[in-house]
Amino acid sequence: MTTRWQVCASRPVDYAVIQAPQLFARDNPLLAEFGRGAGSRRFVVVDDAVQRLYGQRIRAWFQAHGIDARLVPFVGGEDNKTVYAWRALARQLENFPIHRRDEPILAIGGGVLTDVVAFLAATHRRGVPHIKIPTTLMGYVDAAIGIKCGVNFEGAKNRLGAFEPPLAVLLDAGFLASLPMRHLRNGMGEIVKLAVIRDAALFRALEVAGADSLATRFATAAGQHLLDTAVEGMLQELTPNLYEDELARKVDFGHTFSYGLEALHADRLLHGEAVLLDVLVSVAVASGRGLLPAGAAHRVFALVDALGLAPDIGLLSGEAMWAAVQDRILHRNGRQRIPMPTAIGECTFVDDIHPAELASAIPFLRARFQERHERTVEC
Ligand SMILES: NC(=O)c1ccc[n+]([C@@H]2O[C@H](COP(=O)([O-])OP(=O)(O)OC[C@H]3O[C@@H](n4cnc5c(N)ncnc54)[C@H](O)[C@@H]3O)[C@@H](O)[C@H]2O)c1
Repeated sequence: MTTRWQVCASRPVDYAVIQAPQLFARDNPLLAEFGRGAGSRRFVVVDDAVQRLYGQRIRAWFQAHGIDARLVPFVGGEDNKTVYAWRALARQLENFPIHRRDEPILAIGGGVLTDVVAFLAATHRRGVPHIKIPTTLMGYVDAAIGIKCGVNFEGAKNRLGAFEPPLAVLLDAGFLASLPMRHLRNGMGEIVKLAVIRDAALFRALEVAGADSLATRFATAAGQHLLDTAVEGMLQELTPNLYEDELARKVDFGHTFSYGLEALHADRLLHGEAVLLDVLVSVAVASGRGLLPAGAAHRVFALVDALGLAPDIGLLSGEAMWAAVQDRILHRNGRQRIPMPTAIGECTFVDDIHPAELASAIPFLRARFQERHERTVEC
């Protein structure tokens, strides 16, 4: 008889996602609640565009609170979501030592930055606390509020990564004021995804106020309501399954056929744009299978038009989509587990998508959207 020891433990996940308007107003004390105050240090990674626009304000906040902050600029964009970017940050952190427990690393930027910096926090000394402050719509409603982080590797998106809960996520929608319209629309892709697959009320709110919210950069009450509904819905979906023990996930909607497409077309496609392409393929396939009524498919397409999203169907290929499905089968432990809409806000999971269905969605979507895409590009 050999002896066997069973090690059994669990660690609670407990972090706040907080609406934080005017986060870097000099007298705003919120950020100082996390970690040690005056006399302490902070390693602060800031998206370079954000640093140019808000760097002075951020520096002034730390000065006012007596905290020695090292602001480290980071270039956003999928190209920089690499092991090299992670290593460069790790080196800079070596040159600016921080306490292991009470001097959290700060990540101020888009989804690329928060993914890489959270991965740095997960790996530095096997885990140090971090705070995420998203500055893009993609980060605000999705990338920054969960616990996944990582970098792309060998052409595969997010291949190296971790589940690393933050100390807090601080949401200041004021950053969206300077975000280019293409990046606002990019974040909209994730909101549309969430609405179609799990939230009919969010979908209606998008139909009513989505276009105006984009135009006003979410600075109106209706815009803030959209943001809050999207964050709330995303957290409800993520919280019971933070470590993805359950592999059939509604939030994987939009992340099957287009998996890795933005890494493949880094110069032409953003993550949310790839997600939107996948949503449209899924709607076309679900409709073709009779899973989704034609009226519901029409509403999705009409919403995409109304939001001014102009997907480039020309980037889709049947082979690439089928290759993406093969990778997702590995990721989802041997089964497709593809979320497919059955109504606005409802879905089922399927395991029997075949390549011909994907290929036939392309000409259908091209006929519906390509002219608008080309007109938008010409403008
Ligand atoms: N961890 C997750 O659960 C999760 C979820 C969704 C997406 N993601 C990841 O998010 C990434 C995409 O994030 P993204 O779209 O934010 O990209 P990004 O981080 O590259 O930012 C987009 C661009 O916006 C600029 N920018 C950022 N904030 C700005 C501001 N306030 N004003 C002006 N310019 C600003 C950046 O410099 C960059 O050029 C992808 O890599 C995706 O995989 C992760």
